[in-house]
Amino acid sequence: MADLSLAGKRVLLIISGGIAAYKALELIRLLRKAGVGVRAVLTRGGAEFVTPLSVQALCEDRVYTDLFSLTDESEMGHIQLSRSADLVVVAPASADLLARMAAGLADDLATTLLLATDKPVMVAPAMNVRMWHHPATIANLATLQSRGIAIVGPEAGGMACGEFGPGRLAEPDTILAAIRQRLGHAGALSGRHAVITSGPTHEAIDPVRYIANRSSGKQGHAIAQALAQAGARVTLITGPVALPEPPGVTCIPVESAAAMHAAVIAALPADIAVFCAAVADWRVVAADRKLKKSGAPPQLTLVETPDILSDIAHRAADRPALVIGFAAETENLVANATAKRARKGCDWIIANHVGAGSDVMGGDANEVVLINQDGATPWPRASKAAIAERLVSNIIKEMT
Ligand code: C5P
Repeated sequence: MADLSLAGKRVLLIISGGIAAYKALELIRLLRKAGVGVRAVLTRGGAEFVTPLSVQALCEDRVYTDLFSLTDESEMGHIQLSRSADLVVVAPASADLLARMAAGLADDLATTLLLATDKPVMVAPAMNVRMWHHPATIANLATLQSRGIAIVGPEAGGMACGEFGPGRLAEPDTILAAIRQRLGHAGALSGRHAVITSGPTHEAIDPVRYIANRSSGKQGHAIAQALAQAGARVTLITGPVALPEPPGVTCIPVESAAAMHAAVIAALPADIAVFCAAVADWRVVAADRKLKKSGAPPQLTLVETPDILSDIAHRAADRPALVIGFAAETENLVANATAKRARKGCDWIIANHVGAGSDVMGGDANEVVLINQDGATPWPRASKAAIAERLVSNIIKEMT
């Protein structure tokens, strides 16, 4: 079992402006109680909502507020400050600070530290619901996420401005749980190699047409990213998707099931294999010229593709120690997925319901059931990133 203890870890907490800044005080208290050393930076906006004195009293360290203070620079330069922690946490992260982070600005101490740090960064956004839904904020968060920055919350609920919706800072204990997971996972899988398949495959009908499965690759890419953050060496073999490459991951783009199969075999040996791709079950005996529309519609001849999951799970010499498959089912979820686990020879199956009305395909959330040797465990609906984190926690427990 991995040691998820936080004792002795260090967090640099950046508190930006917003009514939720008072919750940062509770977060500091919880972190200190968990044995975490906390250094705090208060932005100009943050200091409008909580006083440096109250932050300092809880941190048992001086609070940093001013980029151009000569005393600060002589005691601890801002570069050193940016690297003095195991994790940089921004809570609350205002829409403005997120925008400046995304743009790479360094016009105050907080943004300078965020640009100079070589440590993982986690942000807990808090803002008005309309600001949260604004395309600028959405684009900024996507940029930050593609750089490997972890995002916690926000939660939905009534807001200080009288509106209702997502935008409330995640509760301090939720942020603490995310920090615990992030720091507890750091390095837990170092030295391990994980191979992930993600996205759909495209099977050519002729040089311009293909058949494919519906898959955005969001869940597989999130798993690859979470495994990399836990220290694993990750090979992500991905069908055609419109997603950025997760940071710290070796990406191998492929088109067809046959190419994905060959790339997985070439990536072995591995300790962990997660087969998340929606692989086409059949390929077409493809024409080498574009089929013409004239005359009767062409008859397509379909041929079964290799079952990558089943093949790898049944390998004798180089089977990864932990083989995980996915099962998208439209009915009898647990029974079908349990039978699939046995048939494919994998260790775990992550099953989800994709019937009519489900928004799993292409959406950002997922609701799954883990099926392993102990039976079926439903997980509550969560973001694909949170499902990936939870899966990685289980992988760490299994492998360490
Ligand atoms: O049989 P089914 O396609 O429902 O199984 C789903 C699981 O098998 C997924 O983990 C998927 O990635 C994997 N699979 C595969 N190769 C195939 C078909 C499915 O690896 N040809």
